[in-house]
Amino acid sequence: MNALDIILKKRSGEELSADEIRYFINGYTAGEIPDYQASALLMAVYFNGMTKRETFDLTEVMRTSGDVMDLSRISGVKVDKHSTGGVGDKVSLCVAPVAAACGVKVAKMSGRGLGHTGGTIDKLESFPGFNVSLSEEQFFNQVEDHGIAIMAQTGDVAPADKKLYALRDVTGTVENMSLIASSIMSKKLAAGSDAIVLDVKCGSGAFMKTEEDARSLASEMIEIGKRAGRKTVAVISDMEQPLGRAVGNALEVKEAIDVLNGKGPADITELSLTISGLMIWLADIASSPEEGRSIAAEAILSGAALDKLKEFVKAQGGDETCVDDPEKLDNGGSAKELCMEVKSPVNGYVMSLDALKIGTVSQHIGAGRLKKDDVIDLSAGIILEKKCGERVENGDVLARLYGRDRGRLDEASREVLGAYGFSSEEPEEKALIKDVLGL
Ligand code: URA
Repeated sequence: MNALDIILKKRSGEELSADEIRYFINGYTAGEIPDYQASALLMAVYFNGMTKRETFDLTEVMRTSGDVMDLSRISGVKVDKHSTGGVGDKVSLCVAPVAAACGVKVAKMSGRGLGHTGGTIDKLESFPGFNVSLSEEQFFNQVEDHGIAIMAQTGDVAPADKKLYALRDVTGTVENMSLIASSIMSKKLAAGSDAIVLDVKCGSGAFMKTEEDARSLASEMIEIGKRAGRKTVAVISDMEQPLGRAVGNALEVKEAIDVLNGKGPADITELSLTISGLMIWLADIASSPEEGRSIAAEAILSGAALDKLKEFVKAQGGDETCVDDPEKLDNGGSAKELCMEVKSPVNGYVMSLDALKIGTVSQHIGAGRLKKDDVIDLSAGIILEKKCGERVENGDVLARLYGRDRGRLDEASREVLGAYGFSSEEPEEKALIKDVLGL
């Protein structure tokens, strides 16, 4: 077996065997197969695709290329949740405590912000003292004792994917369903939960711009999960406009606390109830997703979910008093001192609100990284006072921007205004949750 023969086989559209995939990926990860040959194979896959069997075999090789969590020591059903990424997406901060309060074991590894999308780990660091780097022992013990732990994904999970993803990024081979699905699922499967709820986003602020692509990606990932013996379902949800009203780390944590207080915006509350309901059902605590949803709603109503959030933050070394006093969030960020308002230039309705533009502006005013080592300003971000379908009058505040640099905020205000589209007619409401697949 050699790398060239494997490239030629895929270039001519043939199906690779499990052995060939293993030989190539392990060889590349070990540095025995060079970047130029791996690039050629990726491009051949990009154009000729992979069968479901090949996609699964690729996932398996990447999953076992590094640390694989064995959560069997933890009692109960472990359910994970993964979002393909979006703007204002603080769903994990809501569903993890809700599900844990209802008896689901949540042992979750999360990432930091990537490009214009935020990450759960950065958001959690808004709680002063919060430790995202748990040892395996601490992680396991915390899930056993409190039902919930969230830690930063270590570089030792699926290192083959890490190396391949970096290569895909610079060789124009990211946007292939098999490659994306295997990349995401190799990490999720290595994280070890028994069941997985995927939130596949579609729209301007998402990786998948169309609903059709989001459905294809969801189906690929469900197939991989099922082949691996994990119950896997996927919610297809809208990311045309940001989720909720808050974009930026501490601002989003505050909004997640509002959701757990029963006072959050309707869209994020709705998505959080649907996803936590699915998690509760997958953990066999409810007999249907609908019953799971009612159990989740009750956990919010009774205050159990909010108490679980406090318990979780405290267990991980964070200041849990921030939950009752969110003004203490943000770990010393200074953006709160500088606020700029964006006002409506028209009377009418908000017709569109471009999630990608809002995510990018938020990144530029300090809530995300422009370079790998940038330090995030946890208090920076945007509050969207008006969203799609809402009535506005000339001079009404559309959005408030929080940042440190007045010059940057000036420019950002113009960009935020450019993210809004207006109409004189009331626009039709678009569904937030488009479908749930894999039930
Ligand atoms: N996220 C991943 O982890 N991998 C991809 O290929 C795309 C998005």
